Amino acid sequence: MAPVMRIGGRSLAALLPDLHSQRGPVYAALCDSVTALILDGRIGVETRLPSERELATALQISRATVTAAYDALRTAGFLVSRTGSGSFATVPSGSRPRTSLARWSSQSEAEDVIDLSCATLSAPPGVLQSVVVDAAAALPLYAETDGYDPGGLPVLREAIADRFRRRGVPTSPDQIFVTNGALHGLDLLMRLLIGPGDRILTELPTYPGTLDAARRVGARTVAVPMAAEGGWDVPAMVAALRQTAPRLALLIPDFHNPTGALIDGESRKAVLRAARQAGTTVIVDESFVELGFVEPETPCAAIDSSVVTIGSLSKPFWGGLRIGWIRASVDLVQRLAVLRASIDLGGAVLDQLVAAQVFPALDDLMPARLAGLLSQRDALLAALRRELPEWRVTEPQGGLSLWAELDAPMSTPLSLLAAPAGVLVVPGSRFGVDGTLERFLRIPFGLPAEYLTEAVTRLATVWRQLDRNALPGRQLVVA
Ligand SMILES: Cc1ncc(COP(=O)(O)O)c(C=O)c1O
Repeated sequence: MAPVMRIGGRSLAALLPDLHSQRGPVYAALCDSVTALILDGRIGVETRLPSERELATALQISRATVTAAYDALRTAGFLVSRTGSGSFATVPSGSRPRTSLARWSSQSEAEDVIDLSCATLSAPPGVLQSVVVDAAAALPLYAETDGYDPGGLPVLREAIADRFRRRGVPTSPDQIFVTNGALHGLDLLMRLLIGPGDRILTELPTYPGTLDAARRVGARTVAVPMAAEGGWDVPAMVAALRQTAPRLALLIPDFHNPTGALIDGESRKAVLRAARQAGTTVIVDESFVELGFVEPETPCAAIDSSVVTIGSLSKPFWGGLRIGWIRASVDLVQRLAVLRASIDLGGAVLDQLVAAQVFPALDDLMPARLAGLLSQRDALLAALRRELPEWRVTEPQGGLSLWAELDAPMSTPLSLLAAPAGVLVVPGSRFGVDGTLERFLRIPFGLPAEYLTEAVTRLATVWRQLDRNALPGRQLVVA
């Protein structure tokens, strides 16, 4: 397999701790540190590591020490060498990506279970009934037509286009394609734009639905680790775009799932410029754009009009409505409509009429929704600081979840043992590729504060009971 990403000696050295202050020989400390970086997703699987000579120079240690560390990594299954092309980060054979379990695990019948497996909100109280009544009143007009419209009802396309225009993104209704939610949009775009073996660049961590959809079309994922302090690692992303020239980049710059990060304008510009130079089509997933606790950033489509944008009412309003959209060129929208005509012929008219009623109500709804969400986020942060101070948590700027760094790579055993203790959580490895990210846990804050506080108490109890010596992290990632 051809190399897709490289990390240089100095870049790797910058990620490593002081090897001489670790216990044991330096080669073992180097091996353990690189292993941890791979498992934590800081070095992506399939990344080419520096040559032994280059790393020895960067670390100012002997080449023999690096050789011994690389040998140990190879033996443990974290490094593979290919004649003539170098050594690549990998995970032990037998590791495999987990497929989705959050939604398909049977929902617990037990009343006392706190379900934190999904980053969602329930519908705003009292609104759904009235918008459904209004939509039903408009239905007779549509009942006189055949009811099929693969691109979506004109009234809804105009409402969506209008919302883009108000955010500074010039948009006509024929640039809007209505979908059954954002994930449906992602799926259709991948079917249209991706062939087996094509590369798709994503953030690491990222929304598991993106990874699953990419896998299903046979794409190869180039997952670029987010910066340790949160947000995009712009140099890494630019380098990955240059080195791998992926067909698509699938990014979540507006209150990223799972970290809640908002990417600043300069980073957006730099990455969009690099994508353009690499010939990469950028798809921006704006599922969470309405859920910010801070001022929004310039939409990516306002920076570069070739950006394809995905959005949805699932997060700001209600997932049960199943209404999302794609904003793209008129040409791409037409190609999507042709594709959809062979799949399901379009969305339900009544649901689209309901969505058209939701748009004018959103501006009034969002302030109260955001205020509630913010106090839930703060309650969750406070509970984590109180009960699990050894976990590192970055404050999300919006969205519906935070990304906690645990003090041991045991997210999967934690989630397995948390379920019988009454908390459903999805381990960090679901947000990465190849079983990495075991040191992280996504915790959504869409539930009322008292549930979040109780959930953290239960998680803390389970965490203290976990026997870290009996369950070494390396073994756990091999599913
Ligand atoms: C980033 C992201 N995109 C898409 C989706 C799917 O959303 P929808 O319900 O609109 O299909 C989710 C759901 O969690 C998500 O987090």
